Amino acid sequence: MCGIVGYIGNRNAYPVVVKGLKRLEYRGYDSAGIALIHEHKLNVYKKKGKVADLEEAVIGKNINGKIAIGHTRWATHGEPSDLNAHPHLSCNGKIAMIHNGIIENFGVLKEELLEKGIRFESDTDTEVLLKFIEDIYLNNNNNSLEAAVRVALKRVVGAYCILLIEESDPDTIIAARKGSPLVIGIGKGEHFLASDASPIIEFTKEVVYVNDYEIAIVKADELILKNLGNEKQTPFITTLDLKLESIEKSGYQHFMLKEIFEQPKTVFDCLRGRLYADEGKIILSGIEQYLPEITQAERIIIIACGTSWHAGLAAEYFIEETCRIPVEVEYASEFRYRNPIVKKGDVIIAISQSGETADTLVAIEKAKEQGALILGIVNVVGSSIARISHAGAYTHAGPEIGVASTKAFTAQLAVLYLTAFKIAQHRQNISEEKYLMLCKELEAVPEKTAQILQLNEYIETIARKYKDAVSCLFLGRGYNFPIALEGALKLKEISYIHAEGYPAAEMKHGPIALVDEKLPVIFIATKDQYHEKVISNMQEIKARKGKIIAIATEGDTITPALADDVIFVPEADEIISPILNVIPLQLLAYHTGVAKDLDVDKPRNLAKSVTVE
Ligand code: F6R
Repeated sequence: MCGIVGYIGNRNAYPVVVKGLKRLEYRGYDSAGIALIHEHKLNVYKKKGKVADLEEAVIGKNINGKIAIGHTRWATHGEPSDLNAHPHLSCNGKIAMIHNGIIENFGVLKEELLEKGIRFESDTDTEVLLKFIEDIYLNNNNNSLEAAVRVALKRVVGAYCILLIEESDPDTIIAARKGSPLVIGIGKGEHFLASDASPIIEFTKEVVYVNDYEIAIVKADELILKNLGNEKQTPFITTLDLKLESIEKSGYQHFMLKEIFEQPKTVFDCLRGRLYADEGKIILSGIEQYLPEITQAERIIIIACGTSWHAGLAAEYFIEETCRIPVEVEYASEFRYRNPIVKKGDVIIAISQSGETADTLVAIEKAKEQGALILGIVNVVGSSIARISHAGAYTHAGPEIGVASTKAFTAQLAVLYLTAFKIAQHRQNISEEKYLMLCKELEAVPEKTAQILQLNEYIETIARKYKDAVSCLFLGRGYNFPIALEGALKLKEISYIHAEGYPAAEMKHGPIALVDEKLPVIFIATKDQYHEKVISNMQEIKARKGKIIAIATEGDTITPALADDVIFVPEADEIISPILNVIPLQLLAYHTGVAKDLDVDKPRNLAKSVTVE
């Protein structure tokens, strides 16, 4: 949700920043802009559209300078337009600022500034914050921009990561964050600033993750961190464990396809060093210390959004089955605003790919205040959710660039399985035999995933056949009901076809009214305890002439007799089946989007990391 890049050093800043913006474009792509200082002159260029549109717009302009800040936007306040694009300029045109986040009290601040006669050119909360900072700066004669930022931020309610440069000081970038991420890369005589590490990795591996309520004063050869009380903080330097190939398409047409195809490896990586199926051993070092507390939990509350919420819902089924601990699965955005009953003894599992989702972050802060133990299941190392959790496990799926989540989802499921089986064994809720069987089944997932991926071209033909559908239903029962939800979400995100996921039996209570000969209904019908029931639901659709696409277990002969199209997946235990059954649905969504000639890596209106509520 908005990508931010900054550079100061000896290189030409423009190519560094623009390349960085391209790497961050998955965070928002409705407009882009850059501000540079060259020969004591501040130049700002911004354009509605993608970073490529900005590049075209600056042809023939002065893009020189050793200092620059750049932004790729996902609109919150104000429609995508050249005017609303960042960077914004102060009234005197001497300070440029970019922002990721939402200033919630921008209305009050704007009123105050309007009363002072200050005028606004855009509809953005960012311009309000910048002009508020400028007002403080100019009305305190001896003040510095840095001090003005500090004073202003004390009044700000909301989330922000801001970068500012000032024409009269071409040697400094001022940055600050609260709630929206900021990473600073440390080079030799140069610094790189960004919303995540992907624009930095090809230049340096040494980074500092800036904390909430910190201000960074960044020069080519100096980095000073302060808190809002003007006290210096010691920067904590970490070394990135990230490879450049992992953020490039490596020959695939889209990141989404690359990430779908990476899943045998990402699930394997996630299990490596944690699952020893032959010995029946699971090691989750990140939670080991809290195991006694977790195994005695009276209740587990899972908090997440979107696809991560679907992973949580899938986990509810298998945690309750294997651990016999009650599980509640909460949308973070709902949880944070009601008055939830959370007590000591509750274990919260927060699931997030980005580790920066604003709703999830605030929801777990709230639960933490009420005494719950927080376990984070997060993909991005060092992200905010990872840092505020008491304990947890990384999913190790590597950077996920495609906006629609795929490999992060299966990695989340893999970690959730490990966690569930570990707790179940500790609580002695399942027999040793079943525990060993589940470990073996989990170990076999990468191999079976690779087999499913061989169906890629076949699934593409199915996608082409149904690409003009207006609406689709996804139905599943039990362990695979959450996968029906996830399949529907993927399809609507990528192909803009309206899709709904339902428990297959619930379909009779309303959605069946939609069924006619034009409606594709995707059934997850692999062999499990519900199979016969799902077959009955299929009959009900067939009787109303709906088109049936079924995910079935290899060797099944009953399902194909009813379905118009069948995708066979390898046999697996029903508890493990969701992590496999989702793969064909990811491919179906992907190929439908491609068949409709849509930008599957950057679907309209979406952003990868939702750092605003
Ligand atoms: C869907 C998707 C989103 C995210 C959701 C939560 O494909 O990617 O629904 O799952 O925005 O994001 P994280 O997992 O980063 O908290």
